[in-house]
Formats: sequence, C-alpha cells, structure tokens
Amino acid sequence: MQIEAVKTAYRRYARIYDAVFGPVLQPGRRALLERLELKPGERVLEVGVGTGLSLPLYPRSVRITGIDVSREMLEKARERVARRRLENVDALVEMDAEHMSFPDATFDKVVAMYVVSVVARPGKLIEELHRVCKPRGEIFIVNHFRSDNRFIGAVEKALAGFSSHLGFHPDFDLREVLPDYQAGDVSRVNLFQKVVRLRNGVSHKL
Ligand SMILES: C[S@@+](CC[C@H](N)C(=O)[O-])C[C@H]1O[C@@H](n2cnc3c(N)ncnc32)[C@H](O)[C@@H]1O
Repeated sequence: MQIEAVKTAYRRYARIYDAVFGPVLQPGRRALLERLELKPGERVLEVGVGTGLSLPLYPRSVRITGIDVSREMLEKARERVARRRLENVDALVEMDAEHMSFPDATFDKVVAMYVVSVVARPGKLIEELHRVCKPRGEIFIVNHFRSDNRFIGAVEKALAGFSSHLGFHPDFDLREVLPDYQAGDVSRVNLFQKVVRLRNGVSHKL
C-alpha cells in the first residue's frame, strides 16, 4: 500500500483498532515476544508499533523505541504508555520504516508485527531492518502469510482486491521478500500466523 493510503486507513482504524485487531492478533505478538529471548539492557526497535498493544509484553529491563507512520495510532500508543506507566519505552516516533533516520547498527533486536504486508515496499523494509540492527543482532517478524490451504488461499485471493480498505494484503507471500529463507527461520503460531527470525549479518537475498 502507498504511504498515503496507509495513513488514511489507519487514521480510520485508530479508534477501533484494539477492539478489532487486539485479541485476534495477540497470540502472534506473544509468540514473538517469547522467541525474542531478551536480555537486560538490550535495545529493541519495533516498527509499525501501532496502538502499542505489544508494549506491555516487553520485560521492564529492556529499552524500547517504537515507530509508525500513523499519528493517530501513535497517539493511542502514547496513551497506553502513560496509562500503564511503561517507563521502558524510550520513544514513540512518527517515522517511515522504509526510510529510518536511525544510524546503522543501533538496535540489538528489531521487531515488525503485522507490518510487512502493509508497507508499500516490503523488500525495502527488510533492508532497513537489517541496516539499523547491530551485527549479529536479530530481526523478528510476525505476520499472516498466504495460506497453503487451497480453500483459505482462494478466500485470501478474493479479499486481495480490497487491500487498501482492509489496510493490509491478505494474500502476502513471504517468498516475495525472502526468496531464500530457510525452514528453520520460520515457526508457526497457528493456522494463520507465523514468526520469522533472521540473524543479522547472515545473507537473506532480496
Ligand atoms: C496492522 S497494523 C499493526 C500494528 C501493531 N504492530 C500491532 O501488532 O497491532 C500496521 C501498522 O503499521 C503501520 N505502518 C504501515 N506502513 C508503515 C511504514 N512504512 N512505516 C511505519 N509504520 C507503518 C501502520 O500505520 C499501522 O499502525
């Protein structure tokens, strides 16, 4: 989706996002957090942080920076941080994850939850995630990917025409952005969601 379409979609979603996408996507958020294996003092970047539904899940001993292109979604995230007194959240910044202003090798772990199927250029996003991650750091992605099941795949394909209204691509194929990913990089959360774990500094051809 082009960035203006993303901003329009999530400006509309912001007020109802937690009710619509909160519980249904929470198993994926939790599964990703478990796989992060965070150590005290680590710096984490979460791109497309949205309303910050994942933020209370992080241990208080790590430092988190969140970015998003939607001012309205970020506003909700800021309210959550204040309400829950999440002092481990360093900053919530309006920024495009395809063009980040962070220097190279800033973060120990970089996280993208339900974002790769939303951005205009997923390949560029993955490139940026690698750039801002420290050498030997890790990148974690949780998303809905195109199903191997024929029936579900057909439904996803039919819904794909409504992507700009839905705010994401329901038939997103992981191989489009990571053609040479290894089976060991991917673990299933449930029928619809998978977590991808990539070590930085290891070639993932784009
Ligand atoms: C489906 S929501 C996921 C929000 C959150 N990660 C969650 O787990 O609920 C996608 C989010 O990605 C943001 N987004 C889309 N394109 C982006 C970009 N290029 N840079 C930063 N954020 C982006 C949207 O504004 C939206 O908040």
